[in-house]
Formats: sequence, structure tokens, C-alpha cells
Amino acid sequence: MRIKIEKLNEKDIPEIIKLHRLVVSEENSKYYPAGVIEEWLSEINEENIKLQTAKTEWLIARSDEIVGFGQYSLETNEILQINVSPLQKNKGIGRAIYLKIEEIFKKRLTKKISLNATVNSIGFYKKMGFKEKNRIFFSIKTKKVEMVRMEKEF
Ligand SMILES: CC(C)(COP(=O)(O)OP(=O)(O)OC[C@H]1O[C@@H](n2cnc3c(N)ncnc32)[C@H](O)[C@@H]1OP(=O)(O)O)[C@@H](O)C(=O)NCCC(=O)NCCS
Repeated sequence: MRIKIEKLNEKDIPEIIKLHRLVVSEENSKYYPAGVIEEWLSEINEENIKLQTAKTEWLIARSDEIVGFGQYSLETNEILQINVSPLQKNKGIGRAIYLKIEEIFKKRLTKKISLNATVNSIGFYKKMGFKEKNRIFFSIKTKKVEMVRMEKEF
């Protein structure tokens, strides 16, 4: 499959919401309790994405439709999330998004990229060269989402 990595356009937001909700309900739900998934899904809405697109950078992977996206912060040198459609996983899309983000950080001479990995994505980020640091609990509404702090130094 040919994919193109490009910047998120505001008109893509409804498709991103649909894709993110699909990823959380199909993939993350295998690893997190139902109550956590319910609150997580309720946070994926237009208002929140618009707030976040104003503060952080977003890339999308597009073939005929959007098959994945990545969010990162140039302020904190963090990857905030990479998500790939459950129908298209293990085809190199996550890696393509990651490598584009890494290229952007390297051009800025960033010495270290950090992230909070969902428990299901630790293996993926290890493949991308990240090392596990410590377990953290990310708050959403009333619940806490278990994640692992990971870092890659250059
Ligand atoms: C994790 C995720 C982004 C990976 O994307 P993907 O397109 O399926 O991954 P790729 O095909 O690019 O895989 C790249 C490499 O990582 C490996 N890999 C992918 N997912 C993996 C996983 N969950 N565990 C271990 N290894 C994994 C692949 O086997 C491949 O290895 P190789 O170098 O030996 O070929 C995707 O599965 C996803 O969206 N997961 C759910 C959402 C999520 O939790 N995202 C993280 C938010 S911080």
C-alpha cells in the first residue's frame, strides 16, 4: 500500500475522531478495563482535538483514506500518540509516521524524545529504539490509565 505522510488539515478532524475511537475500542480495549475505555472514548471529541491541534503538531498517514496519525510536541520534545487503523496494522504505517516525526526532531537537533506508551504499544516503541523508564498513571476524568514512560536519546 502506498501511503503519504502529511500535516493534519482541519477538514480531516472528523475522520481522525472516527479512526481514534476505532483504535481505542478495538485495540486498547484488549488491555485496559472497560471503565477506562469508556472515559477515554468520551474524551475523543471535536472540542478536545481542536484544543490540542492549537498546541501540538499532528501528522496523518493517508492512502485512499486516513490510515493512521501521530501527535507530537515541539515544546516538550514528546511524542503524544501514534495510532494506526486496526485494519491496517503491521504494514509499516506506524514506523513511517514515527520516522517522519524523528526526522523533524533530528532536524531541530533534539537530543532526546520522550513519550508515555500505552501498555500495548511498548513493543512497538522498543522496535523504534526507545527504552522503558518508569510506569506512570495518566489521569482522564475519574480514571487512571497505566502507561510506561519511554525515552530515546541521540
Ligand atoms: C502500536 C501501533 C502504532 C503500531 O503501528 P503498526 O503500523 O501496526 O506498526 P508497524 O507495522 O510500523 O511495525 C513496526 C515494527 O514494530 C513491530 N510492532 C508493531 N506493533 C507492535 C506491538 N504492539 N508490539 C510489539 N511489536 C510491534 C512490528 O512487528 C514491526 O517490527 P519489525 O521492525 O520487526 O518489522 C499500532 O498497532 C496502534 O495504533 N496501536 C494501538 C494504539 C496505541 O496504543 N498507540 C500508542 C499510543 S502512545
